[in-house]
Amino acid sequence: MKSKLLHISTIGCQMNVYDANQIAGVLAPLGYTGADTIESADMVIVNTCTIREKAEQKAFSFLGRLAKIKSANPSLIVAVGGCVAQQEGKAILKRMPHVDLVFGTHAIFRLPEMVRRIESSRCRIVDVGMSDTIECDSPVAGPLADGQVSAFVTIMRGCDNYCTYCVVPHVRGREASRHPDRIIEEIRMRVDQGVREVTLLGQNVNSYGSKEGLCTFAELLGRVNAIEALGRIRFTTSHPKDLCEELIGTFGRLEKLCHHIHLPVQSGDNEILKRMNRRYTRQAYLEKVDQLRQVCPDIAITSDFIVGFPGETDRQFQATLDLIETVRYDGLFAFMFSDRPQAPAAAFGGKIDQALKKERLQALLDLQGRITKEKHEALVGQVRQILVEGPSRGLDGAGTGIAATQIRWNGRSSSNHIIHFAVPDGLLKHKELLTGTFADIMIEGTHAHSLWGRLIPEATGAIPEKGETTVAA
Ligand code: SAH
Ligand code: SF4
Ligand code: F3S
Repeated sequence: MKSKLLHISTIGCQMNVYDANQIAGVLAPLGYTGADTIESADMVIVNTCTIREKAEQKAFSFLGRLAKIKSANPSLIVAVGGCVAQQEGKAILKRMPHVDLVFGTHAIFRLPEMVRRIESSRCRIVDVGMSDTIECDSPVAGPLADGQVSAFVTIMRGCDNYCTYCVVPHVRGREASRHPDRIIEEIRMRVDQGVREVTLLGQNVNSYGSKEGLCTFAELLGRVNAIEALGRIRFTTSHPKDLCEELIGTFGRLEKLCHHIHLPVQSGDNEILKRMNRRYTRQAYLEKVDQLRQVCPDIAITSDFIVGFPGETDRQFQATLDLIETVRYDGLFAFMFSDRPQAPAAAFGGKIDQALKKERLQALLDLQGRITKEKHEALVGQVRQILVEGPSRGLDGAGTGIAATQIRWNGRSSSNHIIHFAVPDGLLKHKELLTGTFADIMIEGTHAHSLWGRLIPEATGAIPEKGETTVAA
């Protein structure tokens, strides 16, 4: 079979990253392998996101730029997938004559057939069909990047929560869970390929299986925990309203489950939470945080926030800052509210001025910046085990405490802190020997978004016994 080159550009969340891998996996049997550049590709797929207006604009401006590349190479197939594709459907074909294919979030498994048709007859196709159940659940483990030690595995799709600001239920459809056996099968495939850590994905993993009467999410975690050769488990996202005792308990019980939970709160004010349709109160959220810390005292907690939700007053915004002070998060993502035409909040009154949104965003980020700094500094002098992800890129040694002549590596701790580290001179020559191992690091310093330290050779399993290593005298 003739080999053809495929370039996939992904904008958006981890689900889209997972989907991009699935796309590569389902198109591989047609002869498509990864292209390094768009210019060399036979097909370009733009995997889009529409969570905020900016993400949608980014997708369209990227697509616009492809028109030129297509005119230089008319046989190029241009395809648009993901959430903008689902939202806009055939309007994209109308607006962009250089686009050949628009496929929605439920159409990935129909891609091979559509691509074959385009290859043979150069027709233009739109498939934004959605269904309430998962029609094709066979595990597809697409190609891994060189040295990739961590992979995403989607356990469910869609969302039934209808937060009033959010487009996801409209572009990803109804919540539907994959069968646990298929999930376990896929994780085993990944482990066989060398993956040591999986992140289980869903918009609200805690309601996993409830609709279909499958096992609970905590039970699924128990099964994943039993997979030999898998080192670590992460998951995201957990909706606070559904965070139950059974799931909280897994943090004290399952040795492979990382000590980190992403628990988006969005706002610290009860009235705003109500209008967002989040269905929990500030008090209920804080109780869950307490329960998590009782079961797992060193658990890292991160969150998402929206500032400038319609009608948000200064007092309500202060309640959000106060919540951040109370929880003392390990990290957070904050966004300015953005109208999504399909989401009800787009029609809410009391829209907040862009300048005020910016001001609030900055105040929130400044506060968290201070907390992160304090929390990072408290880690200095402590030892943390990390999963080594590979040599660091783009870190020039300046201010890192790591000599420029030493190879700088990075990995993540169980609490999801990125830690850069140096290996004592001469100890290790080959990156393959360290990538994917667990190593103990003495933390020696901090950056704004990461930490740095030193490998403790005697305390770590990271130094292989065999292979080309030379130990410094
Ligand atoms: N399922 C996850 C979040 C998915 S979207 C959850 O329930 O938390 C990721 C984040 O984008 C959300 O947590 C929210 O903070 C942000 N977001 C979603 N819609 C938005 C909008 N219209 N404007 C600004 N931020 C938004
Ligand atoms: Fe969007 Fe809410 Fe669903 Fe998260 S839970 S995806 S914020 S509707
Ligand atoms: Fe974006 Fe769709 Fe994810 S809108 S955040 S890519 S679910």
